[in-house]
Amino acid sequence: MRFPPAFLDEIRDRVPISSVIGQRVAWDRKKTNASRGDYWACCPFHGEKSPSFHCEDKKGRYHCFGCSVSGDHFKFLTELEGLSFPEAVEKIADMAGVPMPVRDAQEERREKERASLTDVMEMATVFFQERLQGPEGAKARAYLRDRGLTPATQQSFRLGFAPDSRNALKEHLAAKGVPKADIEACGLVRHGDDIPVSYDWFRDRIMFPIPDSRGKIIAFGGRALAPDALAKYMNSPDTELFHKSNVLYNFARARKALAKGGTVIAVEGYMDVIALAQAGFENVVAPLGTALTENQLELLWRMAPEPMLCFDGDKAGLKAAWRAADMALPSVQAGRSARFALLPEGKDPDDLVKAEGPDAFRAVLADARPLVDLLWMRETAGGVFDTPERRAELGQTLRELSSRIRDESTRYHYQQEMRERVQSFFGSQRNARQGRQDWKPGQGKATAPGGQFAKPGGGRMAITESLGQSALVKRGSEGMSVREATIIVALINHPALIDENFAHVEFLDLANSDLTRLHAAILDAMAHDMANDRHAVVATIERAGCAEIWERAVGLIKRARQWPALETAALEDARDALNQALHLQRSARTLHKELKQAEAALEADPSDENFRHLIEIQAQFQDVQATEALIEGFGVSSGRAGRA
Ligand code: UTP
Ligand code: MN
Repeated sequence: MRFPPAFLDEIRDRVPISSVIGQRVAWDRKKTNASRGDYWACCPFHGEKSPSFHCEDKKGRYHCFGCSVSGDHFKFLTELEGLSFPEAVEKIADMAGVPMPVRDAQEERREKERASLTDVMEMATVFFQERLQGPEGAKARAYLRDRGLTPATQQSFRLGFAPDSRNALKEHLAAKGVPKADIEACGLVRHGDDIPVSYDWFRDRIMFPIPDSRGKIIAFGGRALAPDALAKYMNSPDTELFHKSNVLYNFARARKALAKGGTVIAVEGYMDVIALAQAGFENVVAPLGTALTENQLELLWRMAPEPMLCFDGDKAGLKAAWRAADMALPSVQAGRSARFALLPEGKDPDDLVKAEGPDAFRAVLADARPLVDLLWMRETAGGVFDTPERRAELGQTLRELSSRIRDESTRYHYQQEMRERVQSFFGSQRNARQGRQDWKPGQGKATAPGGQFAKPGGGRMAITESLGQSALVKRGSEGMSVREATIIVALINHPALIDENFAHVEFLDLANSDLTRLHAAILDAMAHDMANDRHAVVATIERAGCAEIWERAVGLIKRARQWPALETAALEDARDALNQALHLQRSARTLHKELKQAEAALEADPSDENFRHLIEIQAQFQDVQATEALIEGFGVSSGRAGRA
């Protein structure tokens, strides 16, 4: 019997080739890099002493550089183990946990049917492509052009246009002899008992053909052109060919691109995938209008050990990230995890690369956090751990989380890591309490994500610094907050602003000691009447021996994507950014002072009321920081909650 190619693909995709070959050979420890799915061994096909036999999980193939044998799972089993092909298929299917296809005539017929359905989908794809180029496609072409997609990009993704008609596609296919039943089975028309005359599923929409893992079109996504359309995007219904939750948009191309290295990136939308491809990121996929499913995560892991999951930088995005983290957690193991990247608020990857270029997206990826950080952040953010019971509860939550990991060794390491984090979290509070007098603003070392306050009577209260500390937005270096760096860097790069904000600049209150030195240099330049010239200000900084600090501050600004503070920005943009940062700085510093007062009040009089007041101020303070860190990009880097 002939096995359906999709079935062979599926089981091959599910079983790492190393686990097939690993049953027969011993991997060379030195050359093998298991976490990358890259294995070496002495070739089992010809005798040798040094390993020149190589296999790669990502490609699902082996090759011997000594005797030139090569092949896939099935070839290995048939050639080395002497199994027949059906036996090899059975063995791999068994390893994959996938039942063998029923070998009957009906199954064969369905396979044939599927083949004819993909032919119909191909015809529909060509039809939509031609409409896009035709007269009715003018509006759609203009739309795509406005969105910055080049004709080459449109062509390589085979974009098309479904005209605003109830039967254009239906009649086109019928005229080519496609049976009505096939058109319906493809999900290209709406039909059913309550619909007397079936009609085209997609109307007046930009069409995104969705290929399967071999590049055959199995479904469509359609984006409405009319802004008042009921749904912005519509997908094909699930059909014999298409099961939404098992498919990733752009899977085949991304997998191919991964051969060049890198990891796979999952984003939310079709347009994101396409815009990123045009910007040079070919290794990008997207789910199809739903949150990432378990099946889709499995597919990602087939492509790379640590897929990068990208989410919007707003509350909904963070929620989606947590949801994905919960889903991934039970299945993590050595060489199988995920990283999480959060975009600046209000932007999707498409907006970002269009506005700021590929480097801005690269910066987002560079700031991605591992899974363990994401979970830790969720459990500690905003929490008040002021009693042993609450601390015990945190410990319990973290233990429970870790216990969901199925892989024993990974579970062990998670439990250990969480324990260590809790210890250094509360440990640092103890140290902080003992070393209080020594503490100076801007010199703290962030060792734990908790801020700390001593509560009279020995009960320690910890307040996490929330997202500010473990935000997905990367923290700054050595205690510089992005907010303070923005102020200083904008002033130096745009000296006109120094003059405009003279009063604020003179009495600027900074937490970070390095930035305070730059501030002093600005004041120095002002005193020497040189503050109207950028070169003169920078020269003053260099004379003061602060060139390295200056560089660090600028670096932080770039990483935090606070472009308006840079030299190249327009003055108006720099002014806006400066004003915003000054405003936030004032509220943070004011709250900081209130916080200190509340602490002192509590120390003098440990009443419930004072305690509640302190908690309240802390919560406000934390709110400012969390908002800044996550949303505005003004993350506090290593300061703790007691510092502004
Ligand atoms: P977005 O609303 O973020 O759209 O939805 P987008 O991809 O950025 O598209 P543009 O830039 O407005 O053109 C993200 C994804 O969610 C699904 C689609 O798969 C979309 O790509 N979606 C969205 C739907 O399925 N239906 C909708 O009505 C909206
Ligand atoms: Mn978009």
